Amino acid sequence: MDKRSITVIVVLLLCVIAGMPAAAQTLDVCATCHANATCDDKSDGSGKVCNCKYGFVGNGRTFCQDKDECQIGAIKICGQHTTCHNTHGSYYCTCLAGYSPSNNMANFIPNDGTHCQDTDECTTTEICGKGGQCKNLDGSFECSCHPGYRVHNGVEPFHPYKDKASCKVVDCGQPTSVEDAVLLSITGTTYGGVAMFVCDEGFVWRGGENSSVCGADGVWRGLTMVCEAKCGPVPLLANSEVVWHNRSVVIHRCVNGYHSWRGSSASMCGSSGVWQKATLTCIERKPPINHLFVLNEKCVHWKAEKYEEDTEVYTVTYIGYRDYQRSFHDRRKQSLSSKADQLEVCLNLLPVTNYSISITALSAKFTATLTTNTSLPVPPAPVVYYREFETPVPTLRLRRSANTLDPISLYQVFVLPVEGIMVFDCSSPGSPDPSSKSKSSSKYIAAQIHVTQVGTEMNFTVGDGLSYGGFYNAPLENGRDYYIILRAVSQWKAALKSSCVLWAKVRGTSYVLKISLLSAAASVGLVALVTLGRYSLTWFFKKT
Ligand SMILES: *[C@@H]1O[C@H](CO)[C@@H](O)[C@H](O)[C@H]1NC(C)=O
Ligand SMILES: *[C@@H]1O[C@H](CO)[C@@H](O)[C@H](O)[C@H]1NC(C)=O
Ligand SMILES: *[C@@H]1O[C@H](CO)[C@@H](O)[C@H](O)[C@H]1NC(C)=O
Ligand SMILES: *[C@@H]1O[C@H](CO)[C@@H](O)[C@H](O)[C@H]1NC(C)=O
Ligand SMILES: *[C@@H]1O[C@H](CO)[C@@H](O)[C@H](O)[C@H]1NC(C)=O
Ligand SMILES: *[C@@H]1O[C@H](CO)[C@@H](O)[C@H](O)[C@H]1NC(C)=O
Repeated sequence: MDKRSITVIVVLLLCVIAGMPAAAQTLDVCATCHANATCDDKSDGSGKVCNCKYGFVGNGRTFCQDKDECQIGAIKICGQHTTCHNTHGSYYCTCLAGYSPSNNMANFIPNDGTHCQDTDECTTTEICGKGGQCKNLDGSFECSCHPGYRVHNGVEPFHPYKDKASCKVVDCGQPTSVEDAVLLSITGTTYGGVAMFVCDEGFVWRGGENSSVCGADGVWRGLTMVCEAKCGPVPLLANSEVVWHNRSVVIHRCVNGYHSWRGSSASMCGSSGVWQKATLTCIERKPPINHLFVLNEKCVHWKAEKYEEDTEVYTVTYIGYRDYQRSFHDRRKQSLSSKADQLEVCLNLLPVTNYSISITALSAKFTATLTTNTSLPVPPAPVVYYREFETPVPTLRLRRSANTLDPISLYQVFVLPVEGIMVFDCSSPGSPDPSSKSKSSSKYIAAQIHVTQVGTEMNFTVGDGLSYGGFYNAPLENGRDYYIILRAVSQWKAALKSSCVLWAKVRGTSYVLKISLLSAAASVGLVALVTLGRYSLTWFFKKT
């Protein structure tokens, strides 16, 4: 303070003291007021008074202290959902989190009607995150997940900031197909994703839903496609098995014991939905010539094992041998071509011969062989001219034709004294001894001549008293009648076949025998009955 000021104050003090003697002892009140006080007139006008400014409390002179309005209580002074902020001489209010002031200012003093109201956080887009559903609460909000979303890192309801939870979309993973359908397209594997299916190759769609949708529960739903094989079950061929197959191709093969004759071995599923069957033909593994046999010593039969359409060329070769005729070789050959599967070739096989017959199927390059024996046939009856003689030494004539069985053939001349009804059995051995007269009239063999000794023609005189082949040609008795029978015999080992002819009748000069058996016939003749079973010849002589 400078000297002049002090002088002024002193002067002022002197004036006051001089002018107002009654209040001389009172101070200038206003001068003593606190910096944060105002000097006011007393209400009764009796002087001045120091009053602390608004917002301060104190005596107005020595201290004025800031009054804390907030101590009164935030709710009381600022209202609900507020925070009270004290300032020097004043205060202001802010809203709690989750609330906002109705005047849209950050701070307020409620004396103008401003209050804190709930903030609707749900108006903020995606406050709950993708797939989250916001629910506003008084002063807050909570989140849950939309269908197709699941809470992640927490439980519902959750608060995205506090819980760090969020909604995650449901993922169904890769869609599963139904049998015989394949995935065509997919929009996604998450909730709402759609997977389209089509039938697998070789199958046709018969009905049902052809798409799958990823559900809120994480499961694919909807696919009910019915699948049906386009061509149906794998086709089967006779005597074959399936080696390999997929839905459009089947590979066949012949089963054991069968072999593929021809044709394709693959069946294909055609675009029309029908199997185009393999043409494989499996035929039993059998010789191409089978069931070979000779029927009636004449015809050779066999079964051709071949594909039915084929023509096979066969050659039949046959060779005949004879034990009894070393020089004999019957070697012949025949060819034929045929589509038939049952074949017959008739061969001109000679009798009493062992044949080896070979049949070759040319294209199959297969030969089958069998042996067969031909049997001993009944020799042909000798060709003679029946004659009747009145001499006891008749000369009979025989012509013969050569026969392939000549090496085993001979002639026997039987002499039969005539009496009563006569039955001659051609197969009877006959007695070689004409003198054995056990019976009054016994037939005997007068001669046995081997055919090779005959040449083409022979004259034989009955009763010439000579020996022929060990048989005695005894003279005929005078006065008796005889029949002369010529027997041709074929004999090989145990087999013996013969045929007989009545060669002549010799009349005894003493009397004439008359036999009247069958009266009906008028002429003289003979009936020969050949009974094959017994190879017997029976003569019935008729005379009137
Ligand atoms: C008066 O109040 C003001 C602010 O309100 C403050 O800064 C100051 O210190 C106070 N003066 C005294 C003397 O207390
Ligand atoms: C699925 O089915 C619908 C009818 O249900 C049909 O129109 C559509 O072509 C089908 N899609 C396929 C890929 O087959
Ligand atoms: C079946 O196999 C054949 C031959 O390997 C092949 O070409 C065809 O695509 C296959 N089909 C299916 C449906 O797999
Ligand atoms: C045929 O063969 C058999 C057996 O080898 C033999 O016993 C028989 O005498 C033969 N027959 C002829 C006519 O060769
Ligand atoms: C062939 O002849 C012999 C003896 O002669 C006989 O044992 C065999 O059975 C005959 N074979 C045929 C096929 O006739
Ligand atoms: C058999 O006899 C006749 C006459 O009766 C004669 O012509 C013929 O030559 C004779 N044959 C033989 C082989 O002697």
